[in-house]
Amino acid sequence: MISRRNVIGSALGVAGIGVLGLPRQALAAVPDLFPVPDSRLVKAATALMESGGSPVFTNHSQRVYQFGALLLKKAGIRSFDRELAYLGCILHDLAWTPKFKGPEEFMYRGANMAGEFLSANGVGVADIKVVQTAIINHTDIGALDPRPEVQIVELGAVCDFNGVGVEFLDARQVRRILDYAPRLDCKNEAIATMDEEADKHPLGRIACKRPLFDVMWRNAPFDS
Ligand SMILES: [Fe+2]
Repeated sequence: MISRRNVIGSALGVAGIGVLGLPRQALAAVPDLFPVPDSRLVKAATALMESGGSPVFTNHSQRVYQFGALLLKKAGIRSFDRELAYLGCILHDLAWTPKFKGPEEFMYRGANMAGEFLSANGVGVADIKVVQTAIINHTDIGALDPRPEVQIVELGAVCDFNGVGVEFLDARQVRRILDYAPRLDCKNEAIATMDEEADKHPLGRIACKRPLFDVMWRNAPFDS
């Protein structure tokens, strides 16, 4: 089994940690980005998400980790398993990518796919269940699971799609995150994907929230 105890302490700018897509030297120039764990599992999970064929959802997932980590910090939560948190963020919309869409509701399909991926990479059952819970819960605003590795996905997702919590972040932090993982055509692709999901599952968890999400996503404080 892989040991994954990358628990962050109070020092957020840990030396030697790289951010995906950026050379290590560049990290010093972007101090407001939250460090992404530099591990084989993180790289493999990111590659899996990228292979789904949606740069919009891949970038969204990377912003979810950044926004979620900053909002946890604002809430006073600085100690959590960074790798587990990142895995939930980067994989939470896997089943909304063109390659991995399927007949099941996307949060359940994504949780199952993430579980298979993590199990194949030697992750233990307890940690897999944390990631799966984060994926299944992330569309439920106000879900009750208190674990930060679960909360981060919901916090980051509602911030990036709905704009909830962005008012607690300074504009420079937000700009850094948008430069790091550009939104591209995020609103249009997300709304089209939501509509497809709701049409496919008219009694599903997305369909019942579509009227709310449609308004919130269109009016989120981002250009696209
Ligand atoms: Fe998402």
